[in-house]
Amino acid sequence: MAASGLLEPILVTGGTGMVGQNLREHPALSGARLLMPGRAELDLRDAAAVRAYMQLHRPATVIHAAGKVGGIQANMRDPAGFLIENLDLGRNVITAAVEAGASVVLNLASSCIYPRDRTTLLREEDLLTGPLEPTNEGYALAKIAVLKLAAYLDAASEATSLKSVIPCNLFGRHDNFKPASSHLLPAIIQKVHGAIQTGAESVEIWGDGTARREFLFATDFADAVVHCLQNFDAMPDLMNIGLGFDYSINEYYQTVADVLGYAGGFHHDLDRPVGMARKVVDVSRLDAMGWKPRHDLKQAVGLTYEFFLRSAV
Ligand SMILES: NC(=O)c1ccc[n+]([C@@H]2O[C@H](COP(=O)([O-])OP(=O)(O)OC[C@H]3O[C@@H](n4cnc5c(N)ncnc54)[C@H](OP(=O)(O)O)[C@@H]3O)[C@@H](O)[C@H]2O)c1
Repeated sequence: MAASGLLEPILVTGGTGMVGQNLREHPALSGARLLMPGRAELDLRDAAAVRAYMQLHRPATVIHAAGKVGGIQANMRDPAGFLIENLDLGRNVITAAVEAGASVVLNLASSCIYPRDRTTLLREEDLLTGPLEPTNEGYALAKIAVLKLAAYLDAASEATSLKSVIPCNLFGRHDNFKPASSHLLPAIIQKVHGAIQTGAESVEIWGDGTARREFLFATDFADAVVHCLQNFDAMPDLMNIGLGFDYSINEYYQTVADVLGYAGGFHHDLDRPVGMARKVVDVSRLDAMGWKPRHDLKQAVGLTYEFFLRSAV
């Protein structure tokens, strides 16, 4: 065991993504023996290449954070692509890690795997108890199949312990700020920043802004992942990682305005779609592991804005 409390070397798939980059920046991982091959070095769809990579490097810890990820439009356009790629990636990484004798495998699922119709906090036991949200069903089915595969191999393997976490929505440093494909928080930061630049008196909000969303800061998510790995024996086989509460869209806009110093107003376009139903994960299992987020919403928005400004230069 290294000074970080983690078993090294550590392979992070999806190292160029938001989660991968936030893991790389975690203090416990600076100085750790990290393997973060990009797609050009290792295309995770290629099972033989993944197997050869694992046999060569023999990671002790594998964090599977790669995935084909996209918004509603992309998911609706190509459900087969989201299903096949995420299934292939998960299967290739997890089976090769077990074959190569990794000690620990942590697989990342997503809270979209829960039934669509729940109005209560989403508990891990709710998995597979109702129909999925149709707009991202292909993606969710792949995530469910991979976490089940991890659970089956965990039961069958002497040498490898495999567990999965279910993150809620994430935002933060290394987020996607491209206007055409960004998610809620980076899109709000873009819009409010743009309004400051142009001196606009008002920023448009789609719908009435009362819809609620749970977003965890990606730096905190990376910290939760490290905490899980440092306490892997105590960690449940399947665990939500989130805040356990949410904010309204209006609250997100107001917080961004406060942090960025935008003094203008907001107006609502009530003809625009409001989107999905409320979805908040239950964090009882995470609480029991003694982990709490380190940043409140204002701090998280401030650090994300700093990153946005620096990367826009
Ligand atoms: N962001 C969220 O709100 C959120 C919420 C819940 C769960 N998650 C899960 O967390 C994980 C990481 O998400 P993220 O936000 O970091 O996504 P992201 O920024 O889109 O990063 C995805 C990563 O996967 C890599 N990847 C995809 N296909 C690959 C392939 N064939 N070979 C090698 N690498 C490949 C990408 O590499 P390229 O750069 O080369 O494409 C990128 O590094 C995903 O499994 C996602 O489902 C994310």
